[in-house]
Amino acid sequence: MRILGLESSCDETAAAVVEDGRTLLSSVVASQIEIHKLYGGVVPEIASRAHTEAICGVTRSALEKASLSMADVDAIAVTVEPGLIGALLTGLSFAKGLACATGKPLVPVHHIRGHIAANYLVHPQLEPPFIALVVSGGDTSLIQVDGYTDFKRIGQTRDDAAGEAFDKAARVLGLPYPGGVMMDKLASIGRKDAFPFTPATVHNNEYDFSFSGLKTAVINCVHNLNLRGQTLEEAVKADIAASFTEALVRTIVTRVSLLLERTDAPALVLAGGVAANSHLRAAVSELCERKGCALYLPPLSLCGDNAAMIAAQGYYEFQAGSRAPLSQNAYATASV
Ligand code: KG4
Repeated sequence: MRILGLESSCDETAAAVVEDGRTLLSSVVASQIEIHKLYGGVVPEIASRAHTEAICGVTRSALEKASLSMADVDAIAVTVEPGLIGALLTGLSFAKGLACATGKPLVPVHHIRGHIAANYLVHPQLEPPFIALVVSGGDTSLIQVDGYTDFKRIGQTRDDAAGEAFDKAARVLGLPYPGGVMMDKLASIGRKDAFPFTPATVHNNEYDFSFSGLKTAVINCVHNLNLRGQTLEEAVKADIAASFTEALVRTIVTRVSLLLERTDAPALVLAGGVAANSHLRAAVSELCERKGCALYLPPLSLCGDNAAMIAAQGYYEFQAGSRAPLSQNAYATASV
């Protein structure tokens, strides 16, 4: 069964074709980063307009790359939640029009479920149950995945997502948006104990995260250095990036470690844009090796937003009987 996936929840317009939820036939992503860079972050209205301009071409290109036409596609899967509402509505409205014109079934997909499903495209042996650690620009969660469409959130961020914290820290260091990749590189050459940033403690749920305190600590640190007239040389930026990353990774790994100790989870699956972070990947790999837990990492190409992951999850949602009516709405926030 071939599914055309469409994704437009933030600043990437994407289309992809996936067979039986596991085999990637094509994937096209039009990034808006160059546009939003000018503003230091995503401007929602500009994002919606850019999706409107790109979505037809991206979809056509995904079909061409797979050497298919719409007649060869069995269903259309589209991200309906969560995300920027105008951006989501652009993709959803386009998908509805396509479904209406072709008579193909329309399948609604939750963006975070999609991030997790990216792993099905590269790990043929991966099947639920497992624990998913989702670390993205808009979300940081620990999710128990008991079936392809059976999700239970065990922990989540109380404030900023890890990606948001990376982007804000990068911004105060004068790095271009989105700062995650540059922070990753800088952290590799800095000293992780140069600045005393500490992971936050969260009460009432040991699996919940918090990153806003860490973000504020970096902002205050940079302001204090500026006040003292200290120029932020590359080495100082690298030390800040390394110390920040160390505290952020420790925040995450402590929760995962606790969870693996207390449950008999057979596997851990990493997902989301921040899953590309080399320091997080190394720390989680080391943890899983120590605990004897199988670890599945998405390739860097499938960490950020893409439509292949939406088509992959769309296959399992379709199998479970999920269909979007032509009155389907989009939602800025939604439980997984
Ligand atoms: O998953 P994603 O595309 O967005 C959502 O679905 O929310 O993640 C984007 C986020 C951005 O905040 C970006 O800075 C971060 O992922 N990111 C990274 C790295 N690559 C991307 N953060 C840290 N290290 C990286 N290597």
